[in-house]
Amino acid sequence: MTSDAGTDRRAHWEKVYCEKSPLSVSWYQASPEPSLSLIEAGGHPPTARLIDVGGGASTLVDHLLARGHRDVTVLDLASAALGHARRRLGERAGAVRWLTGDVTDADLGGPFDVWHDRAVFHFLTDARLRSAYRAQLLDNTGAGACVIVATFALDGPERCSGLPVARYSPESLATELGPAFRLEEARAVSHTTPGGSVQHFQFSRFRRRAG
Ligand SMILES: C[S@@+](CC[C@H](N)C(=O)[O-])C[C@H]1O[C@@H](n2cnc3c(N)ncnc32)[C@H](O)[C@@H]1O
Repeated sequence: MTSDAGTDRRAHWEKVYCEKSPLSVSWYQASPEPSLSLIEAGGHPPTARLIDVGGGASTLVDHLLARGHRDVTVLDLASAALGHARRRLGERAGAVRWLTGDVTDADLGGPFDVWHDRAVFHFLTDARLRSAYRAQLLDNTGAGACVIVATFALDGPERCSGLPVARYSPESLATELGPAFRLEEARAVSHTTPGGSVQHFQFSRFRRRAG
């Protein structure tokens, strides 16, 4: 059952995407890098099952389809966010599985070969929600899966979209995700917002261990 806090989170994000253009939100990026190159570095073919967790209105899905990916799921708490992406894609939206729900408790329909999260995990400032996220990650990936999680870096902003965030180094993120995931690559990334501010992110790519 969804908690009051969960309902509040959903209402917050629906409002953001109803009131703002997806091109003006601070996390907007014209080209979804380094996500695309990290997905490629993960080594899975375009036939792999991929989920973009909290994908919002990101253009990552457009680029994945253009690269031949045929099994893409985009999950977001806000249906308005997915609406933006679906309208932008037009007919191509039919090739994507769209899920409105909370990553911490939705039926994601895994297992996935590739799990991508840019700027979602860092909103989970409550340890119980991080634990639920971890459980979802474990339930919805198998051995060899590529897991990419991007968060604000240790010197990144303390808030995003008016909400507090937790900041991570690749190592502290690895500790959060637990021993089932081996850190294979980490990149420090400076993101320039549409308003011209620079935000420091870390992008980490993990491999799920066997067993
Ligand atoms: C900062 S935005 C990033 C969007 C997208 N990943 C990108 O890089 O453009 C965070 C997104 O996560 C979604 N979100 C926040 N909490 C979530 C949750 N618990 N489950 C699923 N989506 C969530 C929001 O609706 C929003 O679209």
